[in-house]
Amino acid sequence: MSGPPAAGRKQVHLAAQLPGIHNVTVWSDPRARSQIAFDSFLHLAQTAERGRFDFFFLAEGLRLREHKGQLYDLDVVGRPDNLTQLSALAAVTTRLGLAATVNATFNEPYEVARRLATLDHLSAGRTAWNVVTSSDAFTGENFRRGGFLAEADRYARAAEFLATARELWDSWADGDVRADAVAGAYLRPGAGRFAHRGRHFDISGRFTTPRPPQGHPVIIQAGDSDTGREFAAAEADVVFSKYNRLDQARSFYRDVKGRLARHGRTPDRLKILPTATVVVADSDAEAAAYADEITRAQVSPQTAIAHLEAVWGRDLSGYDPDGPLPDIDPDPDSLTLKGHSLFRRGRAETARRWRALAERRGLSIRELVIEISGGQTFVGAPRTVADAIDHFVQTGGADGFVLVPHLTPTGLDDFVARVVPLLQEEGVFRPDYTSRTLRDHLGLPHDRGEDTADPAAEEEAS
Ligand SMILES: Cc1cc2nc3c(=O)[nH]c(=O)nc-3n(C[C@H](O)[C@H](O)[C@H](O)COP(=O)(O)O)c2cc1C
Repeated sequence: MSGPPAAGRKQVHLAAQLPGIHNVTVWSDPRARSQIAFDSFLHLAQTAERGRFDFFFLAEGLRLREHKGQLYDLDVVGRPDNLTQLSALAAVTTRLGLAATVNATFNEPYEVARRLATLDHLSAGRTAWNVVTSSDAFTGENFRRGGFLAEADRYARAAEFLATARELWDSWADGDVRADAVAGAYLRPGAGRFAHRGRHFDISGRFTTPRPPQGHPVIIQAGDSDTGREFAAAEADVVFSKYNRLDQARSFYRDVKGRLARHGRTPDRLKILPTATVVVADSDAEAAAYADEITRAQVSPQTAIAHLEAVWGRDLSGYDPDGPLPDIDPDPDSLTLKGHSLFRRGRAETARRWRALAERRGLSIRELVIEISGGQTFVGAPRTVADAIDHFVQTGGADGFVLVPHLTPTGLDDFVARVVPLLQEEGVFRPDYTSRTLRDHLGLPHDRGEDTADPAAEEEAS
């Protein structure tokens, strides 16, 4: 039985991610199903909607990663296009938010704004855009852009990209479609007119797509650098983070929420959602054993060596994954893993830290990679997991989580069946949807253009 919202306690927000471009997915598990077939996306999205999640999220990788000159196929490789998948899901879900990662470096604002506005119409206001800024020249080759953008410029372009997209969405007012048969006028004359003149974009004309139901889709940001955090504080509705250990998460949470006031925003205007994994079983002990098994499947002996090679920039295939770390230093001039943003900077320092940790704790290569990959976030019997999630949120670590299942597409079935009801009982998670748009699920205001006050449309949307 579900309780009413618990007074004085924060509500937990939940999202589900269908993983696919990193090593969370255990594709070698006999129960794992297709990463491409619509059926997989459908299963996870419907599970999330049954669990009353805020949204379903898809990440994006625009170039297949390569390692030592070969495709990096220890992880799942090859995924369909996000916005196309989410458009199909819009037709078979009714309340679940639909979040797409779309890169601001390799796309153009007009096209992206049009496709996001379209999804927001198709889904009646359930769209979110994860604005990422990956800048590497390797990915750029796919777009004939190579290294056209200096790394320092990627957030400048992203900020102008987002501002331009907002101008395009605002180029239509809510009442622009008049369809007035008596006057013989379908549109208001100014509909869709825009002109943007800036450093990165210089465009003008008419925007094809009427104003999205949410005004603007929900904006998500996932960068971690100082510039990335500042961009989030100024512009985003939601921030993803990799910090899912409570101490680190609290410090990220304090830092990012602390930046909002400078931008004239209150702390609740931005939701912080770390990514997390969950392992649920009948007892804590069973869950711990299962979590161990999953982590070892995620970090196979080959994955452990490849992970190390990415930092060392060297072929380490002669090393035993169950033996000690190499005593040679990284090659600063060589990058064996291409298309992965995490291994570009500070590799010598990373190697020193890892070696010190391994020596201190007596860890083998594989054990070290397991250790630094963080294992599973929430592990235990359903009550243990529900309490840990609630505690994390109530004590300033997060506003909720993006849950990433290790198994496609059934990896959140148990969580939804066994943990969600406990959170609902506690009064910290919605027992049912009470709103229709993603902005409303997240408790965010609808973005309204300056001249968009149209009481009839407002009424319809509420
Ligand atoms: C949780 C999380 C999810 C991310 N998802 C994606 C993604 O799907 N596609 C992508 O190109 N970058 C992704 N990124 C990378 C960031 O958006 C960003 O481009 C990168 O971290 C570099 O920015 P920074 O220097 O501000 O950290 C993700 C980062 C985090 C922390």
